[in-house]
Amino acid sequence: MDRYAVFGNPIGHSKSPIIHRSFAEQTQQELSYEAILAPVDGFADAWREFVAAGGKGANVTVPFKEQAFQLVEQCTARALQAQAVNTLYIEDGRLMGDNTDGAGLVADLIRLGAQLYAAKVLILGAGGASRGVIGPLLGAGVAEIHVANRTPDKAFLVAEAFNEQVSASGFADIPDLPWSLVINATSAGLQSSRPEIDERHVAHCELAYDMLYGSQPTAFLVWARQVGVKNTADGLGMLVSQAAESFHIWRGVRPEVTPVLQQLKEMLRT
Ligand code: ATR
Repeated sequence: MDRYAVFGNPIGHSKSPIIHRSFAEQTQQELSYEAILAPVDGFADAWREFVAAGGKGANVTVPFKEQAFQLVEQCTARALQAQAVNTLYIEDGRLMGDNTDGAGLVADLIRLGAQLYAAKVLILGAGGASRGVIGPLLGAGVAEIHVANRTPDKAFLVAEAFNEQVSASGFADIPDLPWSLVINATSAGLQSSRPEIDERHVAHCELAYDMLYGSQPTAFLVWARQVGVKNTADGLGMLVSQAAESFHIWRGVRPEVTPVLQQLKEMLRT
């Protein structure tokens, strides 16, 4: 049976095994998918061990996406743009890397009915999560992206890697434009907090999206509702959609996202 896995540290709470096993069942693919806790300084060795034991491909999560990018022999344009790899696979004996996070976000936004063409997008945060989704959002036809970060210099660095459609600032200098989509790509929600931006930047958007998810709405989404945003969504759909994209790379079939998303939502509720 073909073996797949997700590598991370920590990895105990990863939903990837549930998602990929559901995809396998749904598409009648014979495969196994496990979660592997790699030592913080031992990702490359853990991957090699896995391949030696018959591993065919893997997902990579925090904190190994940048190390995976360094390890691969070749990567896709979108992984290069993200400077991070979340999907490993072997092609003609070569270790290949891709990054499906941005495609997962775009697929989820489309599923939610967001208008991407010509959209004005405000992204909060300038870490790996933010960098990985800018290229795919531009590819989906958005008009303009502004990256705002608590530490402004990091936002400038991220924006520099893209064309003039992408601008940057600190939280206090966000331009007063009618942002149609506001995406929280900060990790503030992990500490139950939110990026401290003025409510006028968010109040009139069509959709506020948090790339994090949990059993309760994130602090950012609770706040967005309070200031009047009608449509909010967390990152669970992005998680399932990026997994579907990885599954397609490995197996050549595209699983349906909706039933698996439903299953995860029910699990989080209980
Ligand atoms: P990731 O790979 O998830 O993006 P990261 O590279 O550590 O993780 O980046 C975390 C991002 O969340 C950064 O943009 C960080 O802002 P700083 O660059 O100023 O550190 C942002 N962040 C984390 N906690 C935050 C908070 N409480 N408020 C605002 N931004 C926060």
